Amino acid sequence: METNHNLYFDNAATSWPKPEQVYSAAERYLRQACGNPGRSGHTRTLEADRLVYRVREALARFFNVSDPSRIVFTLNATDALNMAIKGALEAGDHVLFTAMEHNSVLRPLGGLRRAGLISTTMIPCSAEGYPDLDFLEKSFQPRTRLLIINHVSNVTGTILPLAEMAALARSRGVLVLVDAAQSAGTVPLDLSAVPVDMIAFAGHKGLFGPPGTGGLYVQPGLDLKPWREGGTGSHSEMDLHPETMPERLEAGTLNSPGLAGLYEGIKFIEETGLDTIREHELALRARLRSKLEEIDGITIYGPAAAERCSSVLSFTLAGVDCGQIGYILESSFGILCRTGLHCAPLAHQAIGTFPQGTVRLSPGYFNSIADVDYLAGAIAEIAALAKN
Ligand code: ALA
Repeated sequence: METNHNLYFDNAATSWPKPEQVYSAAERYLRQACGNPGRSGHTRTLEADRLVYRVREALARFFNVSDPSRIVFTLNATDALNMAIKGALEAGDHVLFTAMEHNSVLRPLGGLRRAGLISTTMIPCSAEGYPDLDFLEKSFQPRTRLLIINHVSNVTGTILPLAEMAALARSRGVLVLVDAAQSAGTVPLDLSAVPVDMIAFAGHKGLFGPPGTGGLYVQPGLDLKPWREGGTGSHSEMDLHPETMPERLEAGTLNSPGLAGLYEGIKFIEETGLDTIREHELALRARLRSKLEEIDGITIYGPAAAERCSSVLSFTLAGVDCGQIGYILESSFGILCRTGLHCAPLAHQAIGTFPQGTVRLSPGYFNSIADVDYLAGAIAEIAALAKN
């Protein structure tokens, strides 16, 4: 088989390539604009201000929320999740989370739990990645403050039943925090249809923005303790961080070249259509899945039905180490993917692949059917070699 270097199947880690206009907007910003938004009164600053507001507006439109000031920019989804968790919880609170959560949720919770500040309950998940809703229903306590839901698993691609889970929590006055790191830009997320309290999202995955971009949506009326405090360009006479949003949760200079790129990423999705993107990605996943199913020794994880997943597919090959498969895929076939535990150890326990993990393939919008066929052929060759 001919080597086609740089076939990228790691879009769940960060999407690549980006639409051309994402690169050019970030470069144009750095070369021609580059004022510090909100800080001075000169032309470049005002231009930067307008850009930042446009991105907030685009995200508000994207998630279908009415107030752009409730969207704050963060470094990434991990940063946004920390901001939400540490900003919402008080000593003595109880938190529910699913077994599909990423370490960006598990570690902040683990730290607070070990410090004796909070208690937590994990909602177990099936081998397909679905949470046990009966267990959830019985797990609410008088001090339960927060339910954290990974909208889409970064290990199996499973779409969790967000609306059902959120309704169970909100009917009891429990806040709902959605980790949309994997879903924003790949699976519809309309907050007017499924109201939740907070959404943490990455800008650099499904939204096609540059790394270093992400955000948190906080529903009106919910005040979070600031996760970082400092310069905002507003209320400079005060020695306390301002209470007005979005400054309440933003301090320091924003990643405006990144946001310029993110704006173009969102525009690309709006112009292309999320449905079109999803349809293409699911066609790639379905083809990959059916080709891998024909290979002896392969086990595929997550739901079989494409419409219940994002474009993520995890597999193992009997008798072969996942890291070794990843190494051969890159060194012999030029294929890039992610292997191991994917920062989600409990998800791997749920699907039965802990501690060795899986090989994770995450096709993106810019992959083709031919790419997927090449990938499946490479895996078939590895499996055949392993058998002999
Ligand atoms: N959380 C990202 C992943 O799943 C980085 O690869």
